[in-house]
Amino acid sequence: AMAWETLLYEPAGRVGTITINRPDQLNALNSTVFREMSELLAEIAVDPAIRVIVLKGAGNKAFVAGADIKEMVDMSRREAETRSWTGMRLYDQMRRMPQPLVASIQGYALGGGMLIAMACDIRVASTAASFGYPEIKLGIFPGTGGTVLIDRLIGPATARAICLLGDRFSAERAFQLGLVNRIAEPDDLEKETAEVVETLANYSPVAMRELKTVLNASLEMDFATAREVELDAYGRCFDSEDRREGTRAFVEKRKPDFKGR
Ligand code: CAA
Repeated sequence: AMAWETLLYEPAGRVGTITINRPDQLNALNSTVFREMSELLAEIAVDPAIRVIVLKGAGNKAFVAGADIKEMVDMSRREAETRSWTGMRLYDQMRRMPQPLVASIQGYALGGGMLIAMACDIRVASTAASFGYPEIKLGIFPGTGGTVLIDRLIGPATARAICLLGDRFSAERAFQLGLVNRIAEPDDLEKETAEVVETLANYSPVAMRELKTVLNASLEMDFATAREVELDAYGRCFDSEDRREGTRAFVEKRKPDFKGR
């Protein structure tokens, strides 16, 4: 395994856990995090042993407190645009991973931190976590696809208020908005995350991969085109041994054993 400067990676059985590891900077996303995340994900994408990825932040204070503001102070427009492309490519890469990603959010998920959580497939948050897009306070706004994505995910009226006001909101509020799928007491976050992970780890990797392809298409394309993508993906899924195993196991009244082919 590689040694990363800003990440920890722990593969265990079917689960790969990635920790963004800059706790004294509240895990702010600097250029090294973007590069290392992208390299690590490229490795995990082709590791058939890993069926679920967990993403978390080091320490107990922050999941990720946003993009690294210290890097932005003297940044030119050109650098900022390049950085935005890098960020958008990473978030696309996360959505396009064959394995589902679960964000386990114990503290601040602000700006780019909320965005990287939204690039995961499922979000589990501690009641001690907080969320928000504070960029407007810095004289910017959620770039890197962040404005457009939140509008798609939770609907335009609330998305607009979150972007314009920049205020922090609780995990309960995030749960109400559908931004977080599950909330847990701080001491239970690990356990609740593990339950979600266990569920995902036992499903067919083929179905999971094809399903994510369709959901990505639906996010990015018009209805009719996305449905064509769905038809193809469903066909590929139907060709799998896993589909035979899943349907047969139901009829035989037993648990399926999905092999990922
Ligand atoms: N970038 C760089 N450093 C950050 C950071 C960030 N986003 N967030 C926190 N840090 C650093 C602080 O500068 C501080 O470092 P020093 O010890 O070197 O001063 C350290 O982390 C601890 O932070 P605080 O002392 O500020 O901790 P606090 O408990 O007083 O406050 C906080 C916590 C409310 C989260 C506060 O740190 C904060 O407001 N952070 C910035 C949040 C933010 O604006 N995020 C959006 C960034 S822009 C963006 O994300 C753009 C995008 O991608 C779309």
